[in-house]
Amino acid sequence: MKSFLSLNDVENLPALVKDALEIKKNPHVYKDLGRNKSMCLIFLNPSLRTRLSSQKAAFNLGLQTAVLDVGSQGWQLEFADGVKMDSDKAEHIREAAAVIGSYFDVVAIRAFAKLENREEDYSEQVMESFKKFCPAPVINMESGTGHPLQALADLITIEEHKTVEKPKVVLTWAPHLKALPQAVANSFSRWMQAADFDLTITHPKGYELVDEAVGNATVEYDQQKAFEGADFIYAKNWSSYSQYGQVLSKDPNWMVMAEKMKRTNNARFMHCLPVRRNVIVEDAVIDSNNSLVIPEATNRIYSMQVVLKHILEELK
Ligand code: CP
Repeated sequence: MKSFLSLNDVENLPALVKDALEIKKNPHVYKDLGRNKSMCLIFLNPSLRTRLSSQKAAFNLGLQTAVLDVGSQGWQLEFADGVKMDSDKAEHIREAAAVIGSYFDVVAIRAFAKLENREEDYSEQVMESFKKFCPAPVINMESGTGHPLQALADLITIEEHKTVEKPKVVLTWAPHLKALPQAVANSFSRWMQAADFDLTITHPKGYELVDEAVGNATVEYDQQKAFEGADFIYAKNWSSYSQYGQVLSKDPNWMVMAEKMKRTNNARFMHCLPVRRNVIVEDAVIDSNNSLVIPEATNRIYSMQVVLKHILEELK
């Protein structure tokens, strides 16, 4: 694996998941793979899980890390070409990416969708610029359109907990106070379909994801109907794609509640975290024995570790 920007960088998905599960059994078996190598984690946005699980994964591989919080520590970056740089942005991505890539063997970046301009977010300007100007392999720690490390952790979690070969997985929109990106939902949908699971997406009208993310998933506007027979319920809020970045509904009836979970096949509950309790999901669901939110977050270590392993093997 040369870089990890999306599902497109994965040659063999079942093999990658199998490898992650093997690593989880013995996390330090490749502790010499990262010796004398280093990774820079660049954050343009906040994080708890991605930051710490990435550092832990690197630690397990003997890989040194440095963290750059661009907002508080770095120069503001200009991504557009040919502009007169007379605003608050002091450094161009051409120099920044080249310099960082000359210091480190691997570079990982988090840059959320700004939700102001759909074309700009969906052009993946930040990731594509790093890929173009950074000489080191690049890892996506959530970008304008996707969160592949999260989707890989979700897939690992479902593989560990599924009781049938092809589980019914439901991605349900849930209400939120603020406009959130579509990245997690986009990636979850793509990766679940790549794993050949039976995916249903349920949301109020107006929250349709981009066609490429919906793919062949079933779209069901009646949430209660969507839950029927589900093996996994994956809750997430996202803002509208068609009316880009807008919050069209805050309907509390879309919250995941214990009463609705009764319609499922004793489904396990999932969410990428952080989650707003009693807005997205009722306490009774997230605190139940069927909740997988903590194992799912733990698997963020192994999604990053397996990606790093494959990248480091290519660097050798
Ligand atoms: N799920 C996830 O990416 O969490 P953080 O935003 O805390 O990194």
